[in-house]
Amino acid sequence: MSRGLVAIGEPVPRVDGRAKVTGSARYAAEIAAEALVHGVAVNATIARGRILALHDEEARAVHGVLDVLWHGHRSDAPHLAHYFDAGEDFSTVPAKPLVSDQVHYAGQPVALVLADTWEAARHAAGLVRIDYDVQAHATDLPHHHDEGRAPKELDEDTAPPKPRGDADAAFAVAPVKIDAEFHQAVEHHNPMELHASTVLFEAGGALTVHDKNQGAHSTRKRLAKVFGFPESRITLLNTFVGGAFGSGLRPQYNVLLAIVGALHLRRNVRVVLSRQQMFTFGHRPEIWQRMRLGADRDGKLTALIHEAVGETSRVEDFTEMVTRWSGTLYRCDNLRGDYRLLPLDLPTPLDMRAPGAASGLFPLEVAMDELAHALGMDPLALRLANYAERAPSGDKPYSSKKLRECYALGAERFGWSRRNPQPRSTRVGDEWVGWGMASGQWIAEQHEAQARVVWHADGQVDVETAASDIGTGTSTVLAQIAASALGVPIEDVHVHIADTRLPQAPTEGGSSHVASVGSAVDGACDKLRKKAAKLGSRVEKLEAHFHVQPDEDEQGRYERAVHSAVFCEVRVDEAMGTVRVTRVVSAAACGRIINELTARSQVLGGIVWGIGQALHEETLIDHALGRFMTVDLANYHVPVNADIHELEVLFVPEDDRVVSRLGAKGVGEIGGLGVAAAISNAIWHATGRRVRSLPMTPDKVM
Ligand code: MOS
Repeated sequence: MSRGLVAIGEPVPRVDGRAKVTGSARYAAEIAAEALVHGVAVNATIARGRILALHDEEARAVHGVLDVLWHGHRSDAPHLAHYFDAGEDFSTVPAKPLVSDQVHYAGQPVALVLADTWEAARHAAGLVRIDYDVQAHATDLPHHHDEGRAPKELDEDTAPPKPRGDADAAFAVAPVKIDAEFHQAVEHHNPMELHASTVLFEAGGALTVHDKNQGAHSTRKRLAKVFGFPESRITLLNTFVGGAFGSGLRPQYNVLLAIVGALHLRRNVRVVLSRQQMFTFGHRPEIWQRMRLGADRDGKLTALIHEAVGETSRVEDFTEMVTRWSGTLYRCDNLRGDYRLLPLDLPTPLDMRAPGAASGLFPLEVAMDELAHALGMDPLALRLANYAERAPSGDKPYSSKKLRECYALGAERFGWSRRNPQPRSTRVGDEWVGWGMASGQWIAEQHEAQARVVWHADGQVDVETAASDIGTGTSTVLAQIAASALGVPIEDVHVHIADTRLPQAPTEGGSSHVASVGSAVDGACDKLRKKAAKLGSRVEKLEAHFHVQPDEDEQGRYERAVHSAVFCEVRVDEAMGTVRVTRVVSAAACGRIINELTARSQVLGGIVWGIGQALHEETLIDHALGRFMTVDLANYHVPVNADIHELEVLFVPEDDRVVSRLGAKGVGEIGGLGVAAAISNAIWHATGRRVRSLPMTPDKVM
């Protein structure tokens, strides 16, 4: 616990650190509830078809089992569909489980076993047998990417960049060009905390829902819509969240099932997904891309054509910001983007940390490296030669952009100028040594948010806002903002978040929470300071409320983004195909840093994840069964301590009062961006081998 007066920018340790490490912090699966019923989901084992019969007799016979719910559930109770709103199943809300015999993907929840104990429910769930009418399925993107179609709907961010000039004609005549295909496997969110819900059924039918998610108000809104409830019937809390990287942006089926169970039994119900079940909902989609770059002999980009085909489900179009970065990162007069979807018999994909950018920046930043080599130019010099002083899309000024300074600082720290441009030029022992670099870019957004701050007569301060803390340090940063604004010791600030009874806050997503909620807290504190000054000596309790309403016209005049430059060293054992990332330097410009410690941790985590994206993470699909097969942390590989060596994070100072009154932009997503491309470029520099498929496992590197 940190003590005393703190300033903006200081590395303040987490205010809830002690609660988290001692176990007194209670997560959604740990909320105490009287006479609690445990629900365990049964998942479909076929990729496509219909349920002909479900045999639940054995499951029902297990001691402690209360009921087995599925679409053909026979009892006096109404059909399960009765619990849901009659509106559409998909598109704006998650699929309603258990209401029909249709199976859209392997892993779809098709039954819920309710029992007095978790052990009984889990055992009984394994005894449910299902007869299916199995239909032919398709789960293979790489061999069918040419069958992709345009998404039904795109917004300004998910749409390809507006075409400029004549990219195809310019590419045809470009004296130097690169034309390459790229692939990225399915990746899954694997936060430490499993998705879980504890639903308390109150007298009168009101529901108190403890759920792991990234937004109390947004989750409640969607639940109310799915069930056709007034929002007031639900109190939603996401008190502590053990990581969520997009998987908590919308309610997952654990909470839908827990509510169905609670309504059905009129009791308190908990549903916790197993690690294996964490692979039965959204994922980062598998994606095929083709990148064409043309340049004149001085390295000026003259053509850029970025095509992408991502996978989606049969029931929903999932779109993300894949190609937009090709329109914003570099100056290029002839540009064309194309973004398509291939519907497959898989669960609908889901936003996953830097959705779209993590996939879309990879081909751009690897192709830039290839182009630099073809031109005989240094990769960093090529980027500087095409640096965008104004945002190329829409020709707007940036609200702030210190990417040039990121390149300079990162290169200096890394020692980039000592790089021998020749690939396969350095060997130490059994390993080839290579250096690579790449750029990163992410959006800087602000969303509507409210906060109330109460300054008590005894000096204690309560900060209230329904913000989320998905593990990023929101509570700490909000306490720091209030403590520094009011000039009170941080231990006197008590932050209350994650509860729909508190002032409205947006989801914690897209690296926008500090700029949004932090600004609301800062605004309320500013009002309090003025009130206090007017009163002179203070004897009474003061209270202020602040509502951040982003000025879209004003902010829309600027391109708002965060940037990074990533430099790395790899060592490749060619005989084994193994890659060690021995050094990474990331220089990031993401607005004013509120907390040097938590911000650095975000970027460090991002780099580690980037190493995972580059070398480890891959959900393999068994196409014969239409099923994910690497569905646990033994088979789905993430970096471990032995994979992580020297990491260094540098922040380039920025202060952006267009994005937020605090000057902050956002630090969540930027950390991972550019890392996989820098590693691919370093592998090439080490070995002369270009790997354009993620993850870059030994079989591809050898
Ligand atoms: Mo963001 S996709 O909520 O990590």
